[in-house]
Amino acid sequence: MVGNKAHAARALAALSMLAFIPAAPAENRMPANENGYEAWLRYRPITTIDTTTDTTTDTTINRPTNQDISKALSSIHVAGAGPRHTAALDELHRGLSAMLGASPSIDDDTRELSGGLYLGTRTDFEGALPSEIAAMLDDIGPEGYVVASVPNEAGTPAIVVTADDDTGLLYGAFRLLRELQLGADFAALNIVDSPALPLRMINHWDNLDRSTERVYGGFSIFDWPNLPESQPRYRDYSRLMASVGINGIVVNNVNTYKEGRLEGWRIITDEYLDKAAVLAGEFDRYGIKTYFSVNFMSPILFGDLDTADPAERSVQNWWRDRARHIKERIPSFGGFLVKADSEGEAGPHAYGRTHSEGANMLAEALAPVGGVVIWRAFVYRHPEESRGNADRAVQAYEHFAPLDGRFADNAILQIKHGPIDFQVNEPVSSLFSGMPNTNLMLELQITQEYTGNDIHLNFLAPFWRRVLSFDTHRDGPGSPLRDMLQARNGSSTAWGVAGVGNFHDGLNWTGHLLAQSNAYAYGMLAWNPRQSPETIAGDWSELTFGRNPDVAGKIADMLLRSYEIYSKYYFPYGLSLMGWAGGAAPDGNGDRSRPDPYRNIGRYHQTDAIGTGYDRTIATGSGYVGQYPEPLRETYESPQTCPPEMLLWFHYLPYDFEMPSGKTLIQSIYDDHYEGVDMVKALRRDWLSLEGRIDEERYYHVLGKLNLQLSEAILWRDVINGFYLDMSGVPDAAGRVQALDRPYRGLRYGHGPR
Ligand code: GCU
Repeated sequence: MVGNKAHAARALAALSMLAFIPAAPAENRMPANENGYEAWLRYRPITTIDTTTDTTTDTTINRPTNQDISKALSSIHVAGAGPRHTAALDELHRGLSAMLGASPSIDDDTRELSGGLYLGTRTDFEGALPSEIAAMLDDIGPEGYVVASVPNEAGTPAIVVTADDDTGLLYGAFRLLRELQLGADFAALNIVDSPALPLRMINHWDNLDRSTERVYGGFSIFDWPNLPESQPRYRDYSRLMASVGINGIVVNNVNTYKEGRLEGWRIITDEYLDKAAVLAGEFDRYGIKTYFSVNFMSPILFGDLDTADPAERSVQNWWRDRARHIKERIPSFGGFLVKADSEGEAGPHAYGRTHSEGANMLAEALAPVGGVVIWRAFVYRHPEESRGNADRAVQAYEHFAPLDGRFADNAILQIKHGPIDFQVNEPVSSLFSGMPNTNLMLELQITQEYTGNDIHLNFLAPFWRRVLSFDTHRDGPGSPLRDMLQARNGSSTAWGVAGVGNFHDGLNWTGHLLAQSNAYAYGMLAWNPRQSPETIAGDWSELTFGRNPDVAGKIADMLLRSYEIYSKYYFPYGLSLMGWAGGAAPDGNGDRSRPDPYRNIGRYHQTDAIGTGYDRTIATGSGYVGQYPEPLRETYESPQTCPPEMLLWFHYLPYDFEMPSGKTLIQSIYDDHYEGVDMVKALRRDWLSLEGRIDEERYYHVLGKLNLQLSEAILWRDVINGFYLDMSGVPDAAGRVQALDRPYRGLRYGHGPR
């Protein structure tokens, strides 16, 4: 028997303070308004589980009734104690009370598994776990869990949520609640699950003044000026992230030093550590470690050293002391994220040292506190530097591949999915194939910098799933990227995936309510990269809008079409940087009198009178293709075998190039843009058909976004097509495309802070 009466009493006291959750409206009334704050943890009353007739076979099937489920889950029996036990218990109590309409009782009696819900780790149960459940635990690693129904003589099964560690226990609690929200048969639960990727991280590009970089529609969640005072939102954010398995958060922007403005490097000064400790405390309760973006020059910026040379003993000692100091203040400190020698962030090159020398110095400082250094591979040369290959795509590989095998065991190289910069339809970076002896982490962008900001519906799971499944051929055929991201046998170092977050301080967290689906999908894929986008979209829609299949099914379908639609009217066939946050701007910054060397005219898409696209072939181009192993090289080298969505990323082609459809390239570009706009109209029509079936607040919010998306899609279409008409001189066969006045620039119809 496991007992901890004091804990149970504390838990009860805490629960009495939980907010009252109103009951959902009856089915036949207009749904009550919602602001989206609860996201996918809505916990509305379960109404659809009932004795039903299976309409496909016309036989009555014996499914549990609402009464059965209320009875089975009317009590929670908790074995063991601790902050994550309490977090799990709080969540179960909150969720079950709201879903079942009555608060379950709580006690610590776990001697016998009769009816009710049992919660505890294997150790907590002290042998009371049935052997078949204990056996299920044998096969799972850290953070895994079992959620199972155990039949018993009384007729009402016991539901067991158990794990080997308390983080797994918390994840199991969230999983049970999700299953119930999705209508699972509670009497037949038999779930064993554990994460595929050890580190599932969110990178906040948030600044200490609460501004954000590339996060749309709001300011930072983290109210640095008012911290260390806490806010309920910090806990709710932690709950949402933990519910999809996030276990690491970097709280500040990778850009820690920008002249005149950002001083993110202050994050590891004592002043900010006191503030960060409050966030870290909330995160830790939910199994999330806290990481900081640091500036390589910190020993000079706020230490009393006059060098940051990684080879200097004083510098090494400084970092070791700082790491220890941080760990003392923040026990759940996970390590550092570093953007070095990139876009104005200084690094080891200032001292003639390599990236691995810089990273290893920090890794050594972090090792005694069990931390990791995550070193970003987003490094390229300034375009005006004359030496080397001018193609930005080749440069990260040139910098890092020669360093393969030289990084410390607790150093991880974080690589963006594509070699340029989060573009739509970039190929998977060649670095993933080229660094077999280095710990690798994939960086994805949940926030929609190039994928629609907070205006365009763009569900990224199908694209991410494709990236994760990409065969890198690193270890021969059948070497999918997802396998490169898992800790190798016997290693205790964690690595995996990082997503640049899209949550902010807005009421619905993401600006565009439907963009919540991307945060959810990111967590799901980080946990299980094999999960299908269809399941993720379907589940998210039901969790967010309820289990009416006509409503949730339609929304899931909209999500699943959205990436392809966006690609059609945005950058055609893998072209890069024909615009960015300010809108379509295919001729660079739109101001020819002030050429911006980073974004000068056509640098990224090489459009001229004859053709368009970037020649990256080995035969005639920048040679980027040569960074891949065979057979990827062969596939990408020829326009005939290159996947069409990346054709112009790899090849410069004449406007009359014949596409697989039989059309010319230029006509395909024109037509796709028109098709894309028509598809947005269809999306909007789908949403209009849901009027009256979704609460007005969310309905009109999304409709407003879709209206803006349509206006912007038309703008993109006309700017990009007009640009191509001018450059190519080839008229549109259908006569729709009109010439534009220069500069080619589509201003945005609406956007929030970024
Ligand atoms: C992009 C983005 C920047 C960001 C950079 C990075 O270029 O626009 O805001 O700082 O990526 O990943 O470091």
